[in-house]
Amino acid sequence: MGIMTRRDFVIRVPAGLAAATVLRPWIAAAAEEQDVVIPGEEGMIVRSARFFDLEMPPEFADSWITPVPHFFVRNHMHEPASLDAGTWQLTVSGEVEKPLTLTLADLTKMRPHSVVNTLECAGNGRAFQQPHVPGIQWQKGAVGNARFTGPRLRDVLERAGVKPTGKHVMFHGLDEVPGKVPPFIRSVPIEKASDGDTLIALQMNGAALSRHHGFPARALVPGWIGAASCKWLSEIKVLDKEFDGNFMKPGYRMPNHPLKPGEPLNVDDSHAVTGLNVKSLISAPLDGSTLKSRAVHIHGMAWAGEAEIIKVEVSTDAGATWRPAQLGREQAKYAWRMWSYVWKAPKAGDYAIMSRATDLQGRVQPATAEWNPSGYLYNAIDQVKVRVT
Ligand code: MTE
Repeated sequence: MGIMTRRDFVIRVPAGLAAATVLRPWIAAAAEEQDVVIPGEEGMIVRSARFFDLEMPPEFADSWITPVPHFFVRNHMHEPASLDAGTWQLTVSGEVEKPLTLTLADLTKMRPHSVVNTLECAGNGRAFQQPHVPGIQWQKGAVGNARFTGPRLRDVLERAGVKPTGKHVMFHGLDEVPGKVPPFIRSVPIEKASDGDTLIALQMNGAALSRHHGFPARALVPGWIGAASCKWLSEIKVLDKEFDGNFMKPGYRMPNHPLKPGEPLNVDDSHAVTGLNVKSLISAPLDGSTLKSRAVHIHGMAWAGEAEIIKVEVSTDAGATWRPAQLGREQAKYAWRMWSYVWKAPKAGDYAIMSRATDLQGRVQPATAEWNPSGYLYNAIDQVKVRVT
């Protein structure tokens, strides 16, 4: 990954946030960001330290599989203070013939399946929405790609026997809900829940899930927004209709028709956000960097949720002309694709480098993302500005 910077050892908190944190930073005088040490999460950007919301800096996206310590963390509430794998249980109830209570040992005995999945928060890129929208101000790195392993949700549902009335599957985790806010409960349609790649994941990159990523079990709904993949899973309930609590409605909804920037969402004319958008990320060079050589290796990642990436193009003249990038060898159905482009800058100067992905469904990254009041699914063409000397 090149040179080690101070970033490799500390966590960065945007200015103004640190005062409210429990993690006492040392004073970084005149620095825009204050530095906080969170063991195991070195170099990540802290978007919120009240509940852990950690963003990956773009330069960490330099391997197909994201190492767990570089994988973004998104928590709506407090992580469970203690979780004992020995006493943890998962209940399966609702529209089923035979309600179940499963232990970790029960799940471990079931046939495992692995899925390499690019998990992205629906709010990734929200910080770039114009006009500004409230919420965690994610920039580029609320995304990562990991290999998730565990029994298929379908196999568990089959054991319980879903009744014909069962149309949606609700997940509930063990987060500690602060005060009176509603718990993080969401549901997915039975078709997606029964897909052979939807998991009750017990492992991430070959090791037990870490606490930040949902130990001991999480739902893994591949190709869909991260919010679908409930962490610290403790309850699965089959419902006859979509769950309608806060995190399904009005949360995580997109307007059925494009809104004018600034227009409010009409919940009755909206739908739950499901699959991810077509999108790309430039990992190198870094935005704002000065390059000492005219030979530049531009590279990054591209993903499209349930769709396949078929093309990534690069522009080195602020979008006037585009050239195809080379796609990386490693690929899997729901995983991002690495891409690279070797560029010889014609002369010293300032350049805007851009990347634009296209998927098999014909979706192409737009110059301007569709605005919505929560800034979901932001996917405008990525851009970095560099100076070549
Ligand atoms: N599950 C629970 N129980 N509580 C949460 O706050 N956050 C969701 C999802 N699952 C969340 C959750 C959101 S919004 C995202 S983007 C993903 O977890 C993030 O997963 P990660 O923290 O493993 O990257």
